[in-house]
Amino acid sequence: MPLVTTKEMFEKSMKEHYAIGAFNVNNMEIIQGIIDAAKEENSPVILQASSSAIKYARINYLMKMVEAACEEAPNIPVALHLDHGPDFETCKMCIDAGFTSVMIDGSKYDFEENVQVTKKVVDYAHEHGVVVEAELGKLAGIEDDVNVSSDDAMYTDPLQAKEFVERTGCDSLAIAIGTSHGAYKFKGEAKLRFDILAKIKELIPNTPIVLHGASTVIPELVEMCNKYGADIPGAKGVPDEMLHEASLNGVSKINVDTDLRLALTAQIRKVFVEEPATFDPRKYLTPARQEVKNTVQHKIRDVFGSNNKA
Ligand code: G3H
Ligand code: 13P
Ligand code: ZN
Repeated sequence: MPLVTTKEMFEKSMKEHYAIGAFNVNNMEIIQGIIDAAKEENSPVILQASSSAIKYARINYLMKMVEAACEEAPNIPVALHLDHGPDFETCKMCIDAGFTSVMIDGSKYDFEENVQVTKKVVDYAHEHGVVVEAELGKLAGIEDDVNVSSDDAMYTDPLQAKEFVERTGCDSLAIAIGTSHGAYKFKGEAKLRFDILAKIKELIPNTPIVLHGASTVIPELVEMCNKYGADIPGAKGVPDEMLHEASLNGVSKINVDTDLRLALTAQIRKVFVEEPATFDPRKYLTPARQEVKNTVQHKIRDVFGSNNKA
């Protein structure tokens, strides 16, 4: 089927208490791994690309690959989303190119400026049948081109979230409840502020909530990377049980990039170390693509609960 927006996906997920995975894509193997998993699990899925991913893959290639993915998955609702849109112009470019959803990340601005830029994107997007994710609150760590030090980390204020959604008309809201981007999310115990999530859901029950920085940083994949020569010590993510709890309690979209990077890298490193004479890219990209598929399938089926919800 053609690309869809996230509107119906989120309505169903809020009613039936599960989350939809939003997986970052940069190349063909990642797109294929995700779509193969979604097909096998009969799950809706969101493919998302950051502005640096779009620069890397080039927008025409990206659109054609996603179009091919949709053709290969005629019964699966697939949305194409701009992740961390830095400004109005980038959002407009993606809307004009055929994305069905965009994020305007105004979290680097103060509240009023965030409202203004988000409203501008919402007006343009809605005129073109596209939905908008906005962000309020700051995640610790690195977001695309934006660096936020962990001292500056700021949880989302539930009352502000209500005002923000009312004033901007955004379709979904990314919140900060303790997650962060990348492979180093927690120094000690993993901790998420489920109390803030509950308060937000109480105040804006019909707004789909988005969790960024939600990779598990799967320990087996980190170990495998390190075993085959990587240097990723002490990496730690959000445990599956917490993501499952979030899925049951009003989080509709869960963003995953780091776990897919680890999956791909672990298998490529393994082939490089075990078969040093190999230099045919298909020999290492085939298991890498399979590991992306396995990772996505596990999340859909065992953690987010979107299997059989297509
Ligand atoms: O949240 C950011 C995503 O992981 C995308 O990262 O800008 O390196 O593509 P990227
Ligand atoms: P991770 O780094 O935890 O995979 O988060 C990805 C993300 O939030 C993309 O927007
Ligand atoms: Zn993010």
